[in-house]
Amino acid sequence: MKSDKLGIGIIGCGTIAERMIKAWHPHMRNARLVAASDINGGRVEHFKERFGVERGYAEESALLNDPDVDAVFVLTPNFLHAPQTIAAARAGKHVLCQKPLALTTDEASRMIDAAKENNVTLMAAFVKRFWPYYAAVRKLIDDGALGRVVSIRTQFSHSGIGKYYVPASNWFNDRAKAGGGPLADLGVHHFDVMRWLVGAEVDYVSAEMTNSNGVSDALEDNAIVNLGFANGVVGQGYYSFTTVAPPGVTLERLEVYGTVGSVIVTLSHPGRVVVQYCTETGPLANLGWVDLPVTEPVPAFGLMLQHFVDCIREGRQPVTVGEDGLRTVEIAEHAYISAKEGRRVSMRDHSGAKAVA
Ligand SMILES: NC(=O)c1ccc[n+]([C@@H]2O[C@H](COP(=O)([O-])OP(=O)(O)OC[C@H]3O[C@@H](n4cnc5c(N)ncnc54)[C@H](O)[C@@H]3O)[C@@H](O)[C@H]2O)c1
Repeated sequence: MKSDKLGIGIIGCGTIAERMIKAWHPHMRNARLVAASDINGGRVEHFKERFGVERGYAEESALLNDPDVDAVFVLTPNFLHAPQTIAAARAGKHVLCQKPLALTTDEASRMIDAAKENNVTLMAAFVKRFWPYYAAVRKLIDDGALGRVVSIRTQFSHSGIGKYYVPASNWFNDRAKAGGGPLADLGVHHFDVMRWLVGAEVDYVSAEMTNSNGVSDALEDNAIVNLGFANGVVGQGYYSFTTVAPPGVTLERLEVYGTVGSVIVTLSHPGRVVVQYCTETGPLANLGWVDLPVTEPVPAFGLMLQHFVDCIREGRQPVTVGEDGLRTVEIAEHAYISAKEGRRVSMRDHSGAKAVA
């Protein structure tokens, strides 16, 4: 580290990059935004003006050669995550990489290896680990307020790319660049949340998917995935790009059912999340659904980026590392095989690693 602040380089200055930096900027500590690169020069200039980024580069290789850059955020379309993360690791830079970590498990493994070989940190950017609403669920589990977790169910859906979510460039519908539809895009978030809350890895996957417009060879726009965890918990996820919802709204839901309690987190209005809990034991027993008072004083993206900086400065491992990203890509790969072949797929069946959507 050349200064007492960690020097950050941003690779990819699109829609999510702007949301992430905007959330972090007012809370940023012990870091400075040294450089940004994007093939769209207008986006780099915008980031320099909007966030005071010191230098702009057209080429990511120039950013990686900048000695003041200690760590990079890889915020580009999915197919660039592996080559850019590997190049950054070889240049000695720590990496926070957006989800999905990679298009395939093979790519994800190579990213992890590159980080290890070059002694740098690779963090998988799973922002939902920093969501206070999901942290409240984790606490209920840790406190025994649900008893033994039996089942878990999630939904993450919106009205689609170009409607609910407008990227700065055109790649989401291109199989070679995106790797998949809502399963790869939204599902990986929740696969990580489910692994975290269940406390076990997935043992088997079965999935159904459709492209509801019937366009030949199009990516899926709806996916339902059943998961069997190694500790006996059963899980289910629903991920969609066709859900009609009020403008600007994702429908997101997490349900965890245990032997003595249930919790349901629902996001169905802009900026409003409700955490409802019920139990058969303790002071809240048999009161019906109780709304738990959870707020989000610092946006989760801000917490996530600061956590990455703090971990690197203090020599700690982040809460989500490359292996967490790999596990979620692995679940997605097996789900695509299951849907294609119409069968339940064991995670021990590593023939899955080669087939994508
Ligand atoms: N965690 C979340 O909530 C979340 C939400 C949306 C997107 N994402 C992820 O973030 C990543 C980016 O998505 P987005 O929606 O911001 O896309 P986007 O199209 O808005 O932005 C991508 C940017 O990368 C730039 N780019 C393309 N090739 C480049 C290169 N070689 N070097 C540098 N820049 C390059 C593009 O010009 C564009 O500005 C994706 O992996 C996506 O899955 C995460």
